Amino acid sequence: EATGKAGYDHFMLKEIHEQPRALRQCLQGRVDELAGEVTLDIDPDISRVQFVACGTSYHAALYGAALFRAAGVPAQAFLAHEYAIQTPPIEDDLVVAVSQSGETADTLAAIREADRRGADTLALTNVVGSTMARECTDALFIRSGPEIGVAASKTFSAQLTAVNLLALATVGAGDEDVRELIGALRDLPANIQTVLDSSDARSVARDYVDSESFFFIGRGYHHPVALEGALKLKEISYTHAEGFAAGELKHGTLALVTPDTPVFAVVTGDDEAARKTIGNVKEVEARGAPVIAVTDGESDVERYADAVLEVPSTHARTAAVLANVQLQLVAYHIANELGRSIDKPRNLAKSVTVE
Ligand code: G6P
Repeated sequence: EATGKAGYDHFMLKEIHEQPRALRQCLQGRVDELAGEVTLDIDPDISRVQFVACGTSYHAALYGAALFRAAGVPAQAFLAHEYAIQTPPIEDDLVVAVSQSGETADTLAAIREADRRGADTLALTNVVGSTMARECTDALFIRSGPEIGVAASKTFSAQLTAVNLLALATVGAGDEDVRELIGALRDLPANIQTVLDSSDARSVARDYVDSESFFFIGRGYHHPVALEGALKLKEISYTHAEGFAAGELKHGTLALVTPDTPVFAVVTGDDEAARKTIGNVKEVEARGAPVIAVTDGESDVERYADAVLEVPSTHARTAAVLANVQLQLVAYHIANELGRSIDKPRNLAKSVTVE
């Protein structure tokens, strides 16, 4: 097993470090920079999209739905177990199952119901021979290589990358500049390497490891990142954490914010979304909560932060991937400080094959 970990203490840390390679594989042969085109070997008809997924993959689904909406295509993400019992109307919808394993029973039930109602289905998965890949009309493989750690890391980054490719290849990018997006995707592996080489996540983890509760906030593409940051921390450190759309914190949970609840705030760029999230950061700072900003330094969020985790400047869509890598490292180092069973957390399974 030690050989399999290639010198890392845990599979999860190895897999976090494999992300530049995993994403190169995901992009390989699918992106033509000169032509400014993304080409996949699938070509589904798309007028509306319903994403179904569970756990970490649901966060990728939320992000994916936002990409399609940005291109003017109605799109929504559903928790697969909710979808299966209360399936929304399907017109000409494409139903996309996001699942690392391709075997999650809840997600399988959802696509079987979608199929029964006449939808085209697409499996976005890491496992070529999986049940979902076989049963769906089409499959788009994320090509991360095997993931051993129960808590998803490199597969999530590859799901975010693959869903960008899917949107660009099928519906484009709305008002966004496609060439700029393709460039941002091309730069993603190297930018992740920069994060891995320079991250201060370990010292942040040591400073806050004794906290009993953590919050994560982000807006737009950073909302799924906030959710995923909290889920990762819960899964492997057994510490309470919650992720929110930044604007939602004040609608209730702010009551729990104290000097003992560190808040991770994902803020990149210097646009209206960033400014509004900084407004939310000020609200938590005023309650004495330590703020850890995950930022590219474009805005002045650092003024309100007790610690900073830097990411290279890039498009908001790819910044979300980079910010998530910082939060993966924070979760890993907190769990490691606490001596947790990182690769096999209690009560959890890599793939849940019962509904
Ligand atoms: C399990 C795992 C999670 C994972 C979820 C969905 O609950 O512990 O890490 O996100 O299943 O898995 P999938 O293979 O469908 O992505």
